Amino acid sequence: MSARKINLAILGATGAVGREMLQIVHQLNLPYNNLVLLASPRSAGSYLEYSGKKFPVEEVSGDSFSDLDICLANAGSDVSKVWAPVARDKGVIFIDNSSAFRLDEDVPLVVPEVNADSLRDHHHIIGNPNCSTIQLVQVLSPLHKAFQLKRVIVNTYQAVSGAGKKGLQELENQLKAQAAGLPLVSSKFARQIAGNVIPQIDNFLANGYTGEEMKIMLETKKILAINDLAISATAARVPVEYGHSESVQIQFSQLVSAHDVRNVLADIEHLEIIDNPETNLYPTALDIIGNDNTLVGRIRQDMLGKDWISLWIVSNNLRKGAALNAVQIADYIIKNNLL
Ligand SMILES: NC(=O)c1ccc[n+]([C@@H]2O[C@H](COP(=O)([O-])OP(=O)(O)OC[C@H]3O[C@@H](n4cnc5c(N)ncnc54)[C@H](OP(=O)(O)O)[C@@H]3O)[C@@H](O)[C@H]2O)c1
Repeated sequence: MSARKINLAILGATGAVGREMLQIVHQLNLPYNNLVLLASPRSAGSYLEYSGKKFPVEEVSGDSFSDLDICLANAGSDVSKVWAPVARDKGVIFIDNSSAFRLDEDVPLVVPEVNADSLRDHHHIIGNPNCSTIQLVQVLSPLHKAFQLKRVIVNTYQAVSGAGKKGLQELENQLKAQAAGLPLVSSKFARQIAGNVIPQIDNFLANGYTGEEMKIMLETKKILAINDLAISATAARVPVEYGHSESVQIQFSQLVSAHDVRNVLADIEHLEIIDNPETNLYPTALDIIGNDNTLVGRIRQDMLGKDWISLWIVSNNLRKGAALNAVQIADYIIKNNLL
């Protein structure tokens, strides 16, 4: 039996995530009758193209949610806070890439490979996790099932596209200015990003962590359903266009070898192990171009103890970290008649 065809909207279609989403909707053959692209008044009247077909962009309004089944939202928290309740009240499923509702109790926060089952109890608003969280839980979840997690320490090296089209533009502008010997202007990032590493993503909170770091820690606990997981995150922005990298140290409740970890991860869908130090083989940010798997390497016994493992995770922040994960959620909802 073929899946029911739905009416679909992409809100924030003109952004870094939204543009990727237009492609992925088609690459995954999401069965739609009608596809509406929504954005702010700034881009209303423009067109986006996929495979030779032009899609008009409209300004989002209350009317946008009539005759709609699913809205994939990528326009930031403030916009989601306005339109998610409108969509929900009209019976539309709102799959939200922003952090507005992720930690709400009645909002499933979903990485399909990890906790797709939680979609069965949705109340129309569904959270798509933070990009750094998604690639982390893809690896932690199977390891927790096998060996039980005790502590996790994660340090991220995040691409500028994680800050949207303005983030990409700022790095490009600074590189051009640097080459021309002109002054460098920073507005999207707190400090110069060209040739730099900035240990700040999002605002600082009273506890000394940033908003991004808190998202990684709290969302990981929610998705893995381990309230008392000891986890600490440090998030840094690096002058890379696409792809977030993470260095992760994990303590388990039992002794675990690198060989054990490799065996578990080798069988997991959408994970790919690239790990041969002798030939300098490990995942790098450039390796995620054209590869939608989350890549894992540098798997080793950590010197902290025989119950500790260190590894390195790389994934495409715009695709698995955002657009692809959201479209996979929509696909699961359609295929399992959860509309
Ligand atoms: N970038 C990533 O790696 C990533 C990963 C995970 C999650 N996310 C989340 O995904 C969302 C989008 O991120 P992004 O990186 O794609 O941002 P972006 O490149 O800045 O794009 C923002 C989009 O939102 C639209 N928008 C802004 N204000 C609007 C309004 N008042 N009404 C309607 N549409 C409006 C913009 O439309 P105009 O073109 O008309 O301005 C644009 O389409 C954010 O919540 C972000 O936190 C991003």
